[in-house]
Formats: sequence, C-alpha cells, structure tokens
Amino acid sequence: MPEAISSASGGKCLIGGRWVPPASGRTLPVICPSDGRVFAEIASGGAADIEAAVAAAREAFEKGAWGRLAAFERGRLLLRLSAAILEHAEELAALESRDTGKPLRQGRADIRACARYFEYYGGAADKLHGDTIPFLQGYTAASFWEPHGVTAHIIPWNYPAQIFGRSIGAALAAGNACVLKPAEDACLSVLRIGELALEIGLPEGALNIVPGLGEEAGAALAGHPGIDFLSFTGSPETGTAIQTAAARNHIGCTLELGGKSPQLLFADADLEAALPVVVNAIVQNAGQTCSAGSRVLIEKGIYEEVTGRLAARFRELVAGPHDRDLDLGPLINRSQLERVQHYLALAREGGVSVLAEGRLAEDLPPGGYYVAPVLLGPVPPDHPLAREEVFGPVLACLPFADEAEALALANATPYGLVAGVWTRDGARQLRLAHGIRAGQVFLNGYGAGGGIELPFGGVGRSGHGREKGFAGLYEFVRLKTIVWNHG
Ligand code: NAI
Ligand code: MG
Repeated sequence: MPEAISSASGGKCLIGGRWVPPASGRTLPVICPSDGRVFAEIASGGAADIEAAVAAAREAFEKGAWGRLAAFERGRLLLRLSAAILEHAEELAALESRDTGKPLRQGRADIRACARYFEYYGGAADKLHGDTIPFLQGYTAASFWEPHGVTAHIIPWNYPAQIFGRSIGAALAAGNACVLKPAEDACLSVLRIGELALEIGLPEGALNIVPGLGEEAGAALAGHPGIDFLSFTGSPETGTAIQTAAARNHIGCTLELGGKSPQLLFADADLEAALPVVVNAIVQNAGQTCSAGSRVLIEKGIYEEVTGRLAARFRELVAGPHDRDLDLGPLINRSQLERVQHYLALAREGGVSVLAEGRLAEDLPPGGYYVAPVLLGPVPPDHPLAREEVFGPVLACLPFADEAEALALANATPYGLVAGVWTRDGARQLRLAHGIRAGQVFLNGYGAGGGIELPFGGVGRSGHGREKGFAGLYEFVRLKTIVWNHG
C-alpha cells in the first residue's frame, strides 16, 4: 500500500468548496521521480467530475458569495492565501520537491514565487480601471473590464505551484470562478494549496480542482461548453487540441507552449557574468523549463574559450535525488527520460560532439529517472538539437560570424519565448532586442522562470497570449462598453 499523504485532498477533487471522491472512484498513483516509487494517490477525475466542477464554478460566479464580493475583498482573500502559502512554505516545498524530483531549494523558490503571484494579483484586484470615451453630444460612454465568468486552467508538471499561482491568481483577482485540471505527473502542492484556500475562507466554488489524465479530465474540461475562457501551459501538440476545443466553443485561450530559447554571446560580453547564467538557464529544473536557455550562440572569436569554460563547469555538475539538493534532480518520468535519450541518440547519429557531460551522484536509488547534463557543439543549425525542444539538461552550442548571422540563428526555430543577449555594445543590444522574435528579451541577463511582474509568453510555436504582470490579468477580463443617451 502506498504511504498516504495526510491531507483532506488525498484521492479527491475540490468541487464547490468540498473535497469529494471522483465519480468513478478511481485514483492515480503519485510517483517520486527520484526513486520511481509510489508514495501517494490522486483522484483520476473524468467527465462527470468536470461537469460538477463547471456547474459549481458557474453557481459561485452567478449566484454565490464569490460573485458578490467587491474587487478589494477578492484582493484581500488572495493576500491571505499568499500569507498562508508562506506560513506553510517548508511543507509545500518538500511536497513539491518530492512530487517533481526537483532539488529542495528549487521547491522553496517555487513556493515563494507562488506566494508572490497571489500577493501581486491580490494587490492588483481593485486596480483594473476602465475608460471614459468622448462620444456624441448628449451621450456618455465608458468601457469596463469584466471577468469572463468560468475560466478553465490546464497546467503542467514542471512548476505546478508557480504555474498555479500565475494562472489562478490572475483569474481570481479578475473575479472569475476557476476550474483547474493540474498535471497527473505532479500536483500535490496544488491540492495542498487548495486546502489552504478553503482554510483562509475563499468562497465555495471560486476554485475547483479536478486532477486526472489529460485525455480524460483535461479533454472534458477543454471541450466543456460551460467554460468562458481557457488557459493552457504544456506541449505544442496538446496546445493544438486545446485551441481546437476553444474554437469549437468560440472562446478565447492563452497557450504557453515552451521554446528553444537562445542566449547570444558576443566577443565583448562580460563572460564572468554570463557563463554562470548560461549554465543555470539549462540546468535549473533539469532543463524542464518552458523558458530554458537551451541554445547558446557564440561569436566565433570566443567560441573555443566559451565552450571550454562551459565544459569545465558541466563536468562538475551532479544530478541526484531531490532531497540531496544537488545541481539537478531527476526528470519527471520515464517518457521524459526516453525523450532526452532519443535526442542524445540523434546527436550521436548526426556526428554532433559531446563537449562535456556532468555526472550522476553516487548511490542513486534504483528506479529514478536520472540523466547527466550534456553540452553539445558545434550543433549544425538544421539539426533537431538546434531547433527542437528537448526539455532536459542538454545545451546546444552554435558558433556565429557576425551580428546578422546571430540574429538569423536566434530566429531560426519555430519557437519564440525568451532570449538573452550578452554584449557591451548598447546599439547592438537594442537592435537585437527589437529584431529577435520572442516574448521576452533580456540584455546582459537571462530570467528563466523569474519575474512575476514581467509579461511572459510566446510567438509562433511558443504559443500566444501573455501571463504574469498586468498583461496576465488582462487576459482574464473582457471589455464591455456602456453607452448612455441622456439627451
Ligand atoms: P502535455 O502538454 O501533454 O501536458 C500538459 C497538461 O495538459 C497536463 O495537465 C496534461 O494532463 C494535459 N493534457 C494532455 N493531453 C490533453 C488533452 N488531450 N486535452 C486536455 N489536456 C490535456 O505535456 P506532457 O505530455 O506532459 O509533456 C510533453 C512535452 O511537452 C515535454 O517534453 C515538453 O517538451 C512539453 N512541455 C512543455 C511545458 C511548458 O512549460 N511549456 C510543460 C510540460 C511539457
Ligand atoms: Mg502529453
């Protein structure tokens, strides 16, 4: 028998302010990626549970206590939730770390970020001002932001607590009632925060959580005619299914679908500052980060020096169990491990050299999904390693001759999420910042995952719509124009 997580939410769904077993009575095992062993269970929700959750959200929005709150009261509740998350930070961080395999310090950072989202959006709830519009004589016209109503949220396993915070925080601040389908591979922190939300007095039905499989609970939620907006983070393939479902119901959606984000290193760059950031941007969360810096484009004159210094650092990196808090943990599951191994095989077949490899810790528990970080280069620009998202700790080095080639390479993938440009030349910084096809460009820095306040999202295969910052809040409201003819 699996050791149970002592919580009200074990094996249950949060619907209408109560934890209830899924209609089917089925559960899914929760596996720790560090040893491949089952340590808890979650509900395996399905269409009936989604039906009940959407109905509970509709009730909360239209008739319940939630829909009657003033904006500042909603904000206060989110601030209370933020404080509760911080009060339980150690417990939540340990849970997040065990559930995802990420090193404990990353779990701690994620829980702090989750609390920050509720703090940020709690403070923003009563600051969505509309406009007055000069119109014809005898008329007064104004536009108001109103919530969509019932919003659906489908999130992945790589940063459960953070992505929960950025999506649910914004949607609740705007006054929507939410139905969340977290990832089957990791969602214990989200369920625990669901319990905290009830404890701090979030009105029933404002937040409903139905764990389950993507093809079951996820597909039922995405295609439900009772939802008014859909927010998704995950793979481009599932993103297509989500957008198709949204199109059938004529609702809007935001899609955050990952990337193949480059960092550009010019010969005049401050390498002391740049190189640790370049390494961290691919090692963080074992490379399972939508905004992972998975390509480094290096000016030819410094290619040997930079790859040599990166290789030295890669050789020191150690992967191991989450609770040993090493440079990186295991990957989330067997299929992600196989995905990374597949890309490493493609590199070998394509004759791409391995410049350096990190190592696995001694005495690894058997059954974990470990992979050592790998530095590859030079990667030909048309090789899959230069164009496709690996979602693992694999960094591709590509040399470039000049600024024009650097820009062309930066834009040579179907993705466009984040980029970093390292140069002391101010005019070049701005030319590239404007020229690179991405939702965020960092100059002499790189912000994988960071920046609650900074609008974040992609172009092309990275998706569309923005999360984080006020832009993230505006996705969860729509404009209504009211025109008054007073003669
Ligand atoms: P996925 O896109 O299938 O899963 C993300 C979420 O979507 C999960 O909650 C899942 O249950 C749900 N889902 C899956 N199929 C669904 C469907 N038909 N309808 C509705 N919801 C559905 O991603 P997966 O399979 O976990 O990972 C595959 C690849 O996706 C990764 O290797 C990585 O490249 C990418 N990915 C990107 C992420 C990002 O942060 N942008 C996060 C996770 C994965
Ligand atoms: Mg999938």
